[in-house]
Amino acid sequence: MLLFNHNFYRRKVASMMNGDKKFYITTPIYYVNDIPHIGHAYTTIACDTAARYKRMKGCDVRFLTGTDEHGQKIQTAAEAKGETPQAFVDRIHIKFRELCQVLNASNDDFIRTTEDRHIRTVQAMFAKLIEQGDIYKGTYSGYYCVPDETYVPENAMGPNKTCPDCGRPLTIMEEESYFFRASKYVPQLIKYYEENLKAVMPKIRYNEIMSFLKGGVRDQSVSRTSLKWGIPVPGDEKHVIYVWFDALINYASAVGYLDDPEKFAYWWPSVRHMVGKDIIRFHCVTWPLLLLALGVNLPVEIFAHGWWTVDGEKMSKTRGNVVDPFGTVKEYGVDPFRYFLLREVPFGNDGDYSELALVGRINSDLANDLGNLLNRTLQMIRSYRNGIVPSCNDAKSELESMSREILGRVDEAMNNYAFDEALKAIWEFIGRSNKFIDETMPWKLAKEEGKEAGLNFVLLNLYEALRLSAMLIAPVMPDTSKRIWEQLGISEDPVKSQYDAFIWGEGAGNAIGKSEVLFPRIDLEAWKKAKEEKKLQEEAAKQSAVIEHEPEISIDGFKTVEMRVARITKCEEIPKSKKLYKLEVDLGYEKRTVCSGIKAFFKPEELEGKTIILVTNLKPVKLCGVESNGMILAASVKKDGVSEQLTLLEPEDKNIPLGSRVS
Ligand code: MSP
Repeated sequence: MLLFNHNFYRRKVASMMNGDKKFYITTPIYYVNDIPHIGHAYTTIACDTAARYKRMKGCDVRFLTGTDEHGQKIQTAAEAKGETPQAFVDRIHIKFRELCQVLNASNDDFIRTTEDRHIRTVQAMFAKLIEQGDIYKGTYSGYYCVPDETYVPENAMGPNKTCPDCGRPLTIMEEESYFFRASKYVPQLIKYYEENLKAVMPKIRYNEIMSFLKGGVRDQSVSRTSLKWGIPVPGDEKHVIYVWFDALINYASAVGYLDDPEKFAYWWPSVRHMVGKDIIRFHCVTWPLLLLALGVNLPVEIFAHGWWTVDGEKMSKTRGNVVDPFGTVKEYGVDPFRYFLLREVPFGNDGDYSELALVGRINSDLANDLGNLLNRTLQMIRSYRNGIVPSCNDAKSELESMSREILGRVDEAMNNYAFDEALKAIWEFIGRSNKFIDETMPWKLAKEEGKEAGLNFVLLNLYEALRLSAMLIAPVMPDTSKRIWEQLGISEDPVKSQYDAFIWGEGAGNAIGKSEVLFPRIDLEAWKKAKEEKKLQEEAAKQSAVIEHEPEISIDGFKTVEMRVARITKCEEIPKSKKLYKLEVDLGYEKRTVCSGIKAFFKPEELEGKTIILVTNLKPVKLCGVESNGMILAASVKKDGVSEQLTLLEPEDKNIPLGSRVS
């Protein structure tokens, strides 16, 4: 097996144009203490886009994601569910695999830290570092944040000895611990970063890491005795390996650090990590220091993206505003979701997620700009050229020259993970192409004699603009890209094509395919109404969970309640009562006096003349000295037994004869 791999990777190396043509990209491995949310989806989508782009640029790509399954958080979550940690992680990690599928992620591997290949690698590295004296045993005492599983240095603590990250109180902890001699490798790491200015991106994070490193790094505690759910320290099973030490190693265990050195040697020189800004110290300090100790090369790039808030608020379970990627994809489709996340916010910055903004982008960028260009172009090729893309002697228009500029801009942006910049450039091109239609007015050319060549030129250029645009969006919207090519009559999958092989004009002679609407426009008013209704329904469902229902009755039981249409003819206050009105009601066949506890909601003049529903066969009762002969029906919202909102039941047709029976 190893021999096979050896030859396989040697052949692969030989077939590459140069050493830069490999691209090994990783997402963080996600904690399985909770189900996936938009934050997880974001990194996966970003990595997938970068991976797809590089494949289309002819690189040999490996894209890794997975799950982080050890540590206190997981143990606690499992206990809360009454499950063993293993059963718990086996169950929850599946959600993260499903997320990859739902997001159309093209990952080549999915690693779990509970897998044997990983556990053995972690233990082997730990043992190697002990052997070479870079891990040693000592005692650790310090302030510890239990939920975050991290010691907090005294100078970094929040007010009243709280965790600077999560704000929760810290506990003093003392334990025997293994330490990693991190301090030893700091000068080497500083030098590497000084020589590789793009090793940490964006610049703000680079500066942050450099100043942190220059402030000095202490040796780091890498084992715990207070916890069971982790990888045992080899030869000292009282300790489990600290979850971050364990987790970071996944990037190496997944490409054969231990089991397949050839594979590791092939991929490792091209490794780059994408992470959220909250975990850069682990990735840009701890991890590279470990790699230096292990004697392997450092990551080529580490990119830290920003965080999403939701409608201006921090996302949290208690606020109930956690964005569920499964539900969003189901409602709007995977490509709009991918597009929105990458287009809305410059990658690296924080951003605010709002469903309204997502719908806005679907309508304007996708349905309007892209969808219209496609529809209009195909429609014209169908009507004027029987569905066959015309050819012409020289297909080079200003769209063609712009396309070259756009390709350059997209390439630069994608190499810098500036996905929003890449998309902006593509949409400028789409916008220019739509304008090209308005300027050249093909419908006029089609009517004028001697303008055949001109029309051919316009149609071919539009077709090529679309063929290229679809290809350019493929890393972000792989499905849409394919659907556009299908409509253009191209059976190849654009995702598998190569940017550099695109030749402007080559589409001439193609027979276009069947048209379909790419992105139906979302009617904003109807959408808002539906959302409001959904919100009300959810609130009602919440309420009904606490509603006490009456026992079931039969239809015959119900029929014994006599209800009739009546009109309020007079409304008077009852001096002794704060709540009641004395009402005169007209049933057509007779007049009655009724007392009703609706004073808080109406003025007398608002009630006089109202047509209402009256229960007529209730036993008369005396209320505040007035005999009441019936009850007016009303709906109310009650809080703690008190009506907060009230509305009277009124027949829709106010002219229905008084006394009519309600059933
Ligand atoms: N298990 C560690 C990573 C170990 S990597 C060796 C971890 N897991 S996590 O599930 O908590 O977070 C995974 C990623 O999700 C992080 O990169 C984090 O930044 C990202 N996000 C979590 N919430 C987020 C937002 N609200 N917005 C954007 N990304 C966020 O950390």
